Amino acid sequence: MEKVKIAILGFGNVGTGVWKILLENKKEIMKRSNYDIEVAKILVKDINKERDIALPREVLTDNIDDIINDESIKIVVELIGGRGEAKEYMIRAMKAKKHIVTANKLVIANWGKELFRIAKEENALFYYEASVAGGIPIIREINESLTANRIQQITGIINGTTNYVLSKMTIDGSGFNEALKEAQEKGYAEADPTSDIDGYDAVYKLAIMASLAYGTEVDHDCIYREGIRNISDIDIQYAKQFGYTIKLLAIAKEENNKLELRVHPTFIPSSHPMANVNDAFNAILIKGNAVGELMLYGKGAGALPTGSAVVGDIISILRNNVAPTEVKAANAKVDFKEVKKSNDNESEFYIRLDFKDKAGVLGDTAEIFGKNNVSIVSITQDVAHKTHSTLAFITHKSSEKNINNSLKKIVELESVNKVESIIRIESFN
Ligand code: HSE
Repeated sequence: MEKVKIAILGFGNVGTGVWKILLENKKEIMKRSNYDIEVAKILVKDINKERDIALPREVLTDNIDDIINDESIKIVVELIGGRGEAKEYMIRAMKAKKHIVTANKLVIANWGKELFRIAKEENALFYYEASVAGGIPIIREINESLTANRIQQITGIINGTTNYVLSKMTIDGSGFNEALKEAQEKGYAEADPTSDIDGYDAVYKLAIMASLAYGTEVDHDCIYREGIRNISDIDIQYAKQFGYTIKLLAIAKEENNKLELRVHPTFIPSSHPMANVNDAFNAILIKGNAVGELMLYGKGAGALPTGSAVVGDIISILRNNVAPTEVKAANAKVDFKEVKKSNDNESEFYIRLDFKDKAGVLGDTAEIFGKNNVSIVSITQDVAHKTHSTLAFITHKSSEKNINNSLKKIVELESVNKVESIIRIESFN
């Protein structure tokens, strides 16, 4: 069987997974790709570092030129991550006539257009299945299996770390920091977990999915973003009381040729299958005008699940399947779609106020909501302390503008101390 040489850039969590899969499933991979894959070089920072996996010494290099200048290497697998050298190395590799597989959502979301253009010019295949939702084959799903549909909505739990933290807080009553530490130890979190916790990781993934699903460039800076840092155990308790579970959702939908794109903590009905996506699992619910609702569930992070997507891409290149870049180029002819301003978005809301329990406060608050066209579904009052109490509201569908205008007035009330939480609700109607 013909041999093909590949190189891996970076040998962290995912690199280790890729190595293990190539070794353990060698027979199947040979049969399915028609090639005997040899990892000829692995780029690492420190050749002498102790590793859990014993790698042949001659495979390791700390010099990218050893890979770029080696004409026998046909595929470069970029697993360095981040915005540093990763992009430059991929460009150099394509210019040296090598195909690319990457798991780097940051680079795709920021410089995808440039990279796809270079890939086209250089006749390089460019695959990035692992960049969104780890082991879940969402890129192929959107590009190929669902390509007959008009995608009406994508709703995803696409960050394993935050889902792990929220699940632990909800199910085990764990504290935020303790749950985050566990997620990091398990290898789910990014090198800088801020990207997970504050929603950036999910924003990059949503930008990639939305650009493919709606055939347009998506500037990730236009995506509304809110992380999970401010979610307290009190909100988790209220969510339960109202029949909801809190999840960090990434939502994309199209209305009147405009895109609504947002990432934020969300109350979802506890009876919905998405509410039962726990630990580091990811799930993506797609609503297509032909297929109806479709839900993909799986591991969105971790060495082997992400490695599964990476090795799948390597095999696809060897089979010379249509590259996602080419599909995107076809889509790119569709008109540019504007992203709606967050203020114009509509949803139901959960709002929690800290207030002084005085006669009239409920009436004053309700009046302000009413004047701003915000209709209330339910109110719960919890007299927690002698001096201050909590009021929790669930609203009907309202525009964010009306909610914000109401809250501006409500905080001016003498009896209201603070707006503690504003969390959107997704009812999946
Ligand atoms: N940090 C990411 C997550 C890893 O937690 O989902 C996969 O992109």
